[in-house]
Amino acid sequence: MDKFQRKYPSVFYLREKAKKRIPKFAFEYLDGGCNNEESLYKNTDDIRNIQLKPKYIVDKKETSIKTKLFGIEYDAPFGVAPIGLQGLIWPKSPEILAKAAFDNNIPFILSTVSTSNIEKISKITEGKAWFQLYHPAEDSITRNILQRAEDSGIKNLVILADVPTFGYRNREIINGLSLPPKLTLSNFKSMLSKPSWLINTILKGKPSFETLKPYMSKNLSLKQLGKFMDATFSGALNGEKISRLRDLWKGNLIIKGIESLEDITISEKLGLDGVIVSNHGGRQIDIGESTVNSLKRIKSSYNGKMKIMMDSGIREGTDIARVLACGAEFTFLGRTFMYSVSALGKRGGDHCILMLKRQLNQIMEQLSCKNITDLNKHLI
Ligand SMILES: Cc1cc2nc3c(=O)[nH]c(=O)nc-3n(C[C@H](O)[C@H](O)[C@H](O)COP(=O)(O)O)c2cc1C
Repeated sequence: MDKFQRKYPSVFYLREKAKKRIPKFAFEYLDGGCNNEESLYKNTDDIRNIQLKPKYIVDKKETSIKTKLFGIEYDAPFGVAPIGLQGLIWPKSPEILAKAAFDNNIPFILSTVSTSNIEKISKITEGKAWFQLYHPAEDSITRNILQRAEDSGIKNLVILADVPTFGYRNREIINGLSLPPKLTLSNFKSMLSKPSWLINTILKGKPSFETLKPYMSKNLSLKQLGKFMDATFSGALNGEKISRLRDLWKGNLIIKGIESLEDITISEKLGLDGVIVSNHGGRQIDIGESTVNSLKRIKSSYNGKMKIMMDSGIREGTDIARVLACGAEFTFLGRTFMYSVSALGKRGGDHCILMLKRQLNQIMEQLSCKNITDLNKHLI
């Protein structure tokens, strides 16, 4: 076991270290949820309430966590979820995570509002990254972004169902979060107290919305940037918008943020290929059910062809095992990867993937599970 495995065997230690290493406004942006943060905690608590039983008296078989998705065999059944403003949390974190995902053969999803661009991330991942699109209000911008994604070799496009409004997040309201963060006295003090974050940010350059640069005029003031974002994106989705995207995009089209069978049925009719059951990690709606409960309900009556994946609340390899046992065909994690990069910088991506793989492999061997599709047979 290497030094990091001994020092940071689980997400608990990574989160603690991240909290010490990055400014408060960045940590709270990453760590927080919306309103009273009930969904945030319920997501993980409900996953942890799922129990699996081991079967010990069996002929030992070799365990494999390799997973096929959209015709590609990945080394593990999990990937990196899209995160906006990633470079504000830790400088160059999208590049660090994309490289780690590529080297370890798992998917990385780039957010439209991340701090790297489609071209750079596609180069790092040799076109294997996925892209998450916020919905541009203007058709010409949509076409242009999709063309750039296609030209970069991207095959999987993720559209977002769960941002019809911006989430009401108390911690972000108090911290005045924007890009760059408002220089309140308390944010300024917080930056000065985190020297490795500050030095890295100065050296790597101020984070900005790299993918969107071609559509923005230069040197926008903060107020103008806000106006640009409001004018450029129209959050709410409807059948017409999805059909239009289906017509424009030749690759796999995946919808993220779905929590009901009704929305799944419509998505299937509109020709989508996959669904990520998600509540945005508890950042958008605080009065719904946890994602794993949505997943269970959906799986009990859905028999269609779309791939059903899940994120929100998954922190560890054992959580991944539980969610797969409930019927998800693949999982994504947001905060766990970002805690790791915030804690360990450029080593954070590889460390996190190795940690999750070790945890998942261990529990599968303990249960006597040959591969991930067997996990369901162990559900109590
Ligand atoms: C700080 C932060 C920013 C996020 N930004 C985006 C985004 O730009 N696009 C998106 O589709 N989801 C975004 N998400 C949601 C994640 O993709 C994912 O659904 C969520 O993090 C999963 O929950 P988990 O953090 O509990 O794993 C964001 C999540 C966090 C924590």
